Amino acid sequence: MPPAVRATGAGARMNSPAEIRTHRLNLVAIALGIAVIGLANWWLGGWITPAEGEYRPGYVVILVALMLPGFLGALACGLVAGHRQPTHGLLAALGLFAVEIVWGAVEGELAIGTVIVRALGFAAGAALGGSTARRLASLLRSIRSQPADGAAGPTDPAPLLEVDDLSMHYRTSDGWVSAVDGVSFVLRKGKALGLVGESGCGKTSVAMSLLRLLPENARFRGGSVRLNGVDLLDVTEDEMRTRRWSDIAMVFQGAMNAWNPVYTVYEQIREAMVTHFGGELAEEQIRDRIGELFDLVGLSRAMVDRYPHEFSGGMRQRAVIAMALSCDPQVIIADEPTTALDVIVQDQILQELKKVQTALGMSIIYISHDIAVIAEVTEVMGVMYAGRLVELGPTADVFSRPRHPYTYLLLRSTPSVTGPRRVLAPLEGEPPNLVDPPTGCRFHPRCPYADQRCREENPTMEVIDPESGYGVACWNWTSVPVRIGKGVQA
Ligand SMILES: Nc1ncnc2c1ncn2[C@@H]1O[C@H](COP(=O)(O)OP(=O)(O)OP(=O)(O)O)[C@@H](O)[C@H]1O
Ligand code: SF4
Ligand SMILES: [Mg+2]
Repeated sequence: MPPAVRATGAGARMNSPAEIRTHRLNLVAIALGIAVIGLANWWLGGWITPAEGEYRPGYVVILVALMLPGFLGALACGLVAGHRQPTHGLLAALGLFAVEIVWGAVEGELAIGTVIVRALGFAAGAALGGSTARRLASLLRSIRSQPADGAAGPTDPAPLLEVDDLSMHYRTSDGWVSAVDGVSFVLRKGKALGLVGESGCGKTSVAMSLLRLLPENARFRGGSVRLNGVDLLDVTEDEMRTRRWSDIAMVFQGAMNAWNPVYTVYEQIREAMVTHFGGELAEEQIRDRIGELFDLVGLSRAMVDRYPHEFSGGMRQRAVIAMALSCDPQVIIADEPTTALDVIVQDQILQELKKVQTALGMSIIYISHDIAVIAEVTEVMGVMYAGRLVELGPTADVFSRPRHPYTYLLLRSTPSVTGPRRVLAPLEGEPPNLVDPPTGCRFHPRCPYADQRCREENPTMEVIDPESGYGVACWNWTSVPVRIGKGVQA
């Protein structure tokens, strides 16, 4: 069996062996952080308060000496615990600092000014050390890891977007919702990648994370999103604002109903372009560009000055796609772009999107709970379950021979349009509550192949075909039947 490439992240509870190991590692990391801080502090102590008659240090030396213990502690701590826990460095720094205060009070040498200055130095150093650890961990992973890819053949184009071990959660009154947990995939230039899965499995949360358009109650827990090698989770909000729409644009779920009824479609697309290009484009250039985009998505140029209510549902969705294309993005994320449309219009829009993608050489991420849509328009397909990516491979291969039990059961419950007629088997049960997801493999309560190991350990994503980068996260994928189901006579 090929080697495992990566654990897909710890769940919210800590009672499986893998999770207990992570917990212990965190404790070791905190202890190491405290030890490093203590040593650095002891070594640097003389710099700040030199003995009588020795040199007087400059401000820069004092600043470095104040920050260095926190920085080194957080760096050591962050590297051992993994980039998911950079705050442990800060905790370690504060823990040691508390010890120092108590020690100072016992010795009768506690000066409030010194306490404040040292606290600020510790905190600033630790924050810097934590973020450096995160960057280093991300760099090391990018050098070492060979993620499941789904399109890693020698003739496939270079990676454009590399999502690695992405995790985020939402705070709710019931607790933290673990919506995205250790998701990794690669999108190559000019390719279409599909994300499929039942409602609530985290598809939109992945998309919003890529654009960093998350609501207030959301927090990243780790991972990286590298576009042309630049980690979008590390750039400033100002830089991200300029990259949104020009580098990555999104057709939002339900966006066709989000047009402002009091402005024409032209005015609304124009506003997006002016916000992005500033004064670079003259009015005629903007009008020409919007006209071209309307041609591209199959709308008549005569419609540009109409109001949204004068468009049919399908037309509004085409106009949304034109808007997403208006700033020449390298990647488009289309989140359920056709869900609210009838099948005929749905098919037309999908064909249009495919045409645009080929014409412009763009890369697209399609998100849908409709597996037939993903089959039609993508070359690579990822299957999500309960916040995790469980299978990733060339779309045709996933359809003809799914390896993950969830994909297998999902396909068995979906009628095939092109294949032989077969008996459908409903997928029993429902996805788990992500505030308190099942331990180990999150699919185990619904899985007919589950065993003790599945209940305890989160399966790693294994690359089972290095040539294509086909990956599956299941301990027992070899038990899944080769055929989806028996054909039946019409
Ligand atoms: N703003 C939020 N606050 C709290 N929880 C959220 C928020 N947005 C999403 N969630 C939760 O995160 C999980 C993933 O939701 P998400 O919308 O990403 O799923 P999805 O796969 O896109 O579903 P759908 O197919 O219905 O669009 C769900 O459990 C959902 O309830
Ligand atoms: S066999 Fe085990 S690891 Fe695989 S999907 Fe089922 S429960 Fe998960
Ligand atoms: Mg969604």
